[in-house]
Amino acid sequence: MRLLVCGGAGFIGSTFARQRLREHGDQVTVLDKLTYAGREENLHDLARDPSFRFLRGAVEDRQAVAEAIDAAAPEAIVNFAAETHVDRSIAEPDAFVSTHALGTYVLLEAARERELRYVQVSTDEVYGSIDEGTFTEQSPLAPSSPYSATKAGADLLVQSYFHTYGLPAVICRGSNNYGPYQYPEKLIPLMILNALHGDSLPVYGDGMQVRNWIHCTDFAAAIGHVLAHGQPGEVYNAGGPDEEANMTVVRRIVQLTGAAETQIEHVADRPGHDVRYSLSSQKVRALGWSPKVRFSDGLEQTVAWYRDNAWWWEPIRSGEYRAYYERQYGRSLHP
Ligand SMILES: NC(=O)c1ccc[n+]([C@@H]2O[C@H](COP(=O)([O-])OP(=O)(O)OC[C@H]3O[C@@H](n4cnc5c(N)ncnc54)[C@H](O)[C@@H]3O)[C@@H](O)[C@H]2O)c1
Repeated sequence: MRLLVCGGAGFIGSTFARQRLREHGDQVTVLDKLTYAGREENLHDLARDPSFRFLRGAVEDRQAVAEAIDAAAPEAIVNFAAETHVDRSIAEPDAFVSTHALGTYVLLEAARERELRYVQVSTDEVYGSIDEGTFTEQSPLAPSSPYSATKAGADLLVQSYFHTYGLPAVICRGSNNYGPYQYPEKLIPLMILNALHGDSLPVYGDGMQVRNWIHCTDFAAAIGHVLAHGQPGEVYNAGGPDEEANMTVVRRIVQLTGAAETQIEHVADRPGHDVRYSLSSQKVRALGWSPKVRFSDGLEQTVAWYRDNAWWWEPIRSGEYRAYYERQYGRSLHP
């Protein structure tokens, strides 16, 4: 297939682009604004592939989207483009509203004009927190943060384009992803890099927040599955095989990196922090997808990847991220 992958220079979008080129022989054009989280380094191994093209541009920019579509002649648009960090959405929500609301709208209009298939990549956070049991696609949307609220808004807009205009659009909602190329503001890479550098490991509150971890290659495969086999107008949840409390994850990272338990430091909790996320994936499993990577194996591989790929994270730790970290956690990182 010929695909336009928006936000494909980020963590999961680059995983998806790699998988589609290598495992499916697709032609992939990435359109990405290259925010602090988007990096061409994430696509370094694809840059010379004749079936791959990178274009810099924002999804809310109609002209950039039109030019990308002219260049790629895609059969489908897959939209990963997003601001993705809940803490940043609490501090500065503006970009979340413009990218998720306006950006999704511009892409939907472009897909409608050209009758393209459309996949919106979304998150379990749109359902809010659940103490017991698990969310299905029928669960009500109850987002808690500006991040999840604007993602939920984008999902509703996508569904309206199916109902109103018959756009063949599907939504795939993933649980918490982890794996290589994840920007280190997120829990797992943050803890790995701090552990490797002898920095403190800042755990929000009591650390008993439970997340349903999915390896990024499994989520990318679910999105590909929904692209190929999903019913237009439908939502598909893709949750990982394991649930773990943040504290358990941090302790395991301490063991895997050889850091000291004394590096763990409890810090003030995030405002409105969701306690537990859990997704039922029965509907996408019925299409033939299942997750392949168990959390214990995936975490070990992820620690090894960060240990072996300092070229990838060194420029991040010495740049804007250092200032962000100081603002967010009130302490500096070791050089
Ligand atoms: N990371 C997770 O745990 C997770 C879980 C479920 C769903 N998701 C969803 O998956 C998608 C990708 O998440 P990620 O973790 O790879 O995020 P990321 O922050 O690593 O990447 C986001 C990418 O979008 C690009 N981008 C941002 N604003 C843009 C704009 N206006 N125009 C064009 N490009 C823009 C960035 O430059 C970056 O390359 C998001 O939609 C997110 O909501 C993420």
